[in-house]
Amino acid sequence: MSKNELIQEFNDASQVLLHAQDLSPQNKAAEKAVLSLIDMCIENSEFVAEQSQQMSEHDLLSLRRAFLEADCEMEKYWSEKIIQSVGEDEALSWDNFGIYPWFQDYPALYDFEKRAIEKTLGPITEDTTITYFGSGALPIIPLMLALETGCRIKCVDINDGAVALSTELIDKMKLSDKISVHKGDGISIPEDHNKPDLLFLANAPLSVEDALNNMLPAMQPKVIFARSSAGGTALLYPSISEDAFSKSGYKIDHVAQDHEHGTHTGLVYEQPQIRKPA
Ligand SMILES: C[S@@+](CC[C@H](N)C(=O)[O-])C[C@H]1O[C@@H](n2cnc3c(N)ncnc32)[C@H](O)[C@@H]1O
Repeated sequence: MSKNELIQEFNDASQVLLHAQDLSPQNKAAEKAVLSLIDMCIENSEFVAEQSQQMSEHDLLSLRRAFLEADCEMEKYWSEKIIQSVGEDEALSWDNFGIYPWFQDYPALYDFEKRAIEKTLGPITEDTTITYFGSGALPIIPLMLALETGCRIKCVDINDGAVALSTELIDKMKLSDKISVHKGDGISIPEDHNKPDLLFLANAPLSVEDALNNMLPAMQPKVIFARSSAGGTALLYPSISEDAFSKSGYKIDHVAQDHEHGTHTGLVYEQPQIRKPA
């Protein structure tokens, strides 16, 4: 694609998302715009970084907000489809997730993030407790963690629809004994969430950094993992700095780079006095 064609496609997709009333995949123009922006971020990350520099701060924030809402609506749309793909009393399995266009990317993301977390926290086991902010209507990473390790996860999402759909999906995956879902805003501590071994921050809640710092002294997770954006996806997803939680006594232990896709990084923070796994 020529540079002019790329600029045209970028501007068209951005305008669709900035002005769309319905950001769900029901709106085919919005769905096409989301897919085209994600493709451009992965395939032409330098071009996207260049274009974002030419945008006003206002438009950049509005585009990111619209994209995150579209991302949330996309998960709700496909979560509903996956739940409806089996009968009322039938259980779900990973086979039913194949209809979700992004499902194939999750196993690599899971391996990348689990390795990054365990490098600091040590092995995730059935005794590990996790609080997961921004789990979404399709909490695929929490499902994979609970299925493989038996760990206990409290998922938190700000969107009512995402909470309702993920609760039903987890129940149909027969994992309600391991994973619970709560409404929350990443700002206030959900009830009985104190001292989890791990606080996992999926992208979206990263935009409330100051509020997270107000919450950390009371929650006191041993380790914090933040999924942050890199390269072209920095346009679409919030990113976070290495010293984001230093005022709450957490220092960066390491930054994991996702070389396969180059679309995001994993920042792992810990409280200095935490003993390193032998
Ligand atoms: C892309 S989705 C979920 C990510 C993906 N399902 C996963 O396994 O990591 C991001 C979710 O973050 C939620 N979210 C955004 N801001 C939030 C906040 N401040 N607190 C909690 N959830 C938030 C949105 O409602 C959305 O459902």
